[in-house]
Amino acid sequence: MVLSIESSCDDSSIAITRVDGYELIFHKKISQELDHSVYGGVVPELAARLHAKTLPKILEQAKEFLPHIKAIAVTTEPGLSVSLVEGVAMAKALSVALNLPLIGVNHLKGHIYSLFIEKKAVFPLGVLLVSGGHTQVLDVKSHDNINILASTLDDSFGESFDKVAKMLDFGYPGGPVVEKYAKKGDASRFDFTIPLQNSSKIAFSYSGLKNQVRLCIQEHKDNLNEQVKSDICASFQRVAIAHLIQKLKKVLKSYKFKNFAVVGGASANEHLRGELEKLRSDLLVAPMEFCSDNAAMIGRASIEDFLKGNFASLEQLDIKPRVKSF
Ligand code: KG4
Ligand code: ZN
Repeated sequence: MVLSIESSCDDSSIAITRVDGYELIFHKKISQELDHSVYGGVVPELAARLHAKTLPKILEQAKEFLPHIKAIAVTTEPGLSVSLVEGVAMAKALSVALNLPLIGVNHLKGHIYSLFIEKKAVFPLGVLLVSGGHTQVLDVKSHDNINILASTLDDSFGESFDKVAKMLDFGYPGGPVVEKYAKKGDASRFDFTIPLQNSSKIAFSYSGLKNQVRLCIQEHKDNLNEQVKSDICASFQRVAIAHLIQKLKKVLKSYKFKNFAVVGGASANEHLRGELEKLRSDLLVAPMEFCSDNAAMIGRASIEDFLKGNFASLEQLDIKPRVKSF
């Protein structure tokens, strides 16, 4: 069994995964969403303090499994540095105390493995990764061979939902609440421009769309009732997703992926899933509970490294908060 720890942003999570058959033996996650909600975004210092408080509490619940653990896996990259170090410190302490090898896991690779919890992995695979920090199209040839085909020039897809939510005083995270409002709104009311639609660039950009929404909110500030808010959310969501789909279509023209998946916290968005299914009716998605950050996906990814003997020493294991490659 491998014990895995995730603390790259605002979720503290620990999982235990069996090496043979990938069975998820233990999985617990404590989200800090409510604590950050009042600030309209994640406050790094608060996130770190809460990880330091909650990770040991979760570990206590997993105590009975500790004698059976064969390795400690932990998210080392990318993420908030002050959050990552909390998980890494716990991993190193466990490694020393229990004399176990360490495995450093890339968080984005973890999201890919959210598709394969308790399952064998299917590669090669095209992946759309949509999270709070990233918007990428990936060519996943194998566990160790992942190429980034497109990424965002500024804000990420999930981040743009968070920023729109902040402007509308919805709290954090913005994705689920903006989606909820969008369901009640008229998506054709506001004619926001689709980003980079006249550009041949295969890349994403969300900061311009966010500014269009900001101006629209300003224009309606004296009459920002529930219907106007819903119409803004619906129009924003339509354009945000249309942008993803336009660029993705271009990628899919050149890359004939045998399998295609969407992963990341924002892959929970139903409208997005529906539009992607129009492009690929065989779209692979992770179960809802594993879309957002969790240690089960980190544990599942680490099994591949465990089997290959890809271990890191105490000195080697370090955080890489801003790493761009896999
Ligand atoms: O993968 P994740 O849990 O954390 C990161 O690695 O960033 O993704 C969180 C992001 C947040 O920006 C959140 O607003 C967004 O995913 N999100 C959504 C939805 N649910 C979560 N965005 C759009 N629609 C949703 N339903
Ligand atoms: Zn994530």
